[in-house]
Amino acid sequence: MSMKRFITLEGGEGAGKSTCIAFLRDYFLEKGLPLRLTREPGGTPLAEEVRDLLLRKRDEKVAEDAELLLMFAARAQHIAEVIRPTLARGEWVLCDRFTDATYAYQGGGRGLSVERIAELESMIQGDLRPGLTLLLDLPVQQGMARAAARNEKDRFESEQNEFFERVRAAYRHRAAAEPQRFRVIDASKPLADVQAALKAVLDQWLGQQS
Ligand code: TMP
Repeated sequence: MSMKRFITLEGGEGAGKSTCIAFLRDYFLEKGLPLRLTREPGGTPLAEEVRDLLLRKRDEKVAEDAELLLMFAARAQHIAEVIRPTLARGEWVLCDRFTDATYAYQGGGRGLSVERIAELESMIQGDLRPGLTLLLDLPVQQGMARAAARNEKDRFESEQNEFFERVRAAYRHRAAAEPQRFRVIDASKPLADVQAALKAVLDQWLGQQS
């Protein structure tokens, strides 16, 4: 099972993930490469239901471990039903967020330990890891300003600035620790520059495949 074909996209709120996904979808289409676009939490009917549970705002405080386990419950289902079968067919997977988001949000944001998350990661994923991770990075204030234009905020979007500063720091820390897997894209730049950066990364990555 080639993990080189398993690509993930990460970033904070308002980083422009959706626009980048549309660009990447067209990129793969043009190359004639079969691409399965998917997302976390979610990507299967059951996992999408878990997503609703996770994102819905509620009066009850959500225990950090409950949030963590729900993320991995959704992930287990998604891996079994979508990610592994797609990779096994030799197709490409582009996943909008994956386990780096757990390290960033539940680890950095909520303060859960890296060890705790790493234990679940190996339990649920075995050796499944993305080959390439695109991190859309931009200052929190700028991302928040973009995201503010959206309608209703979900449970994560309703967090304070400090939470998102910790999320960003955790993402950047992970990117620095694994430079061979991560490509950090400056998402504060104009769209054309971001797309050019994505294209350069993908051209290089696909070049390595053949
Ligand atoms: P999205 O808005 O990018 O679709 O992601 C939904 C939210 O879920 C987002 O605020 C980040 C959060 N999230 C986590 O907290 N941990 C995770 O492991 C994943 C995949 C997402």
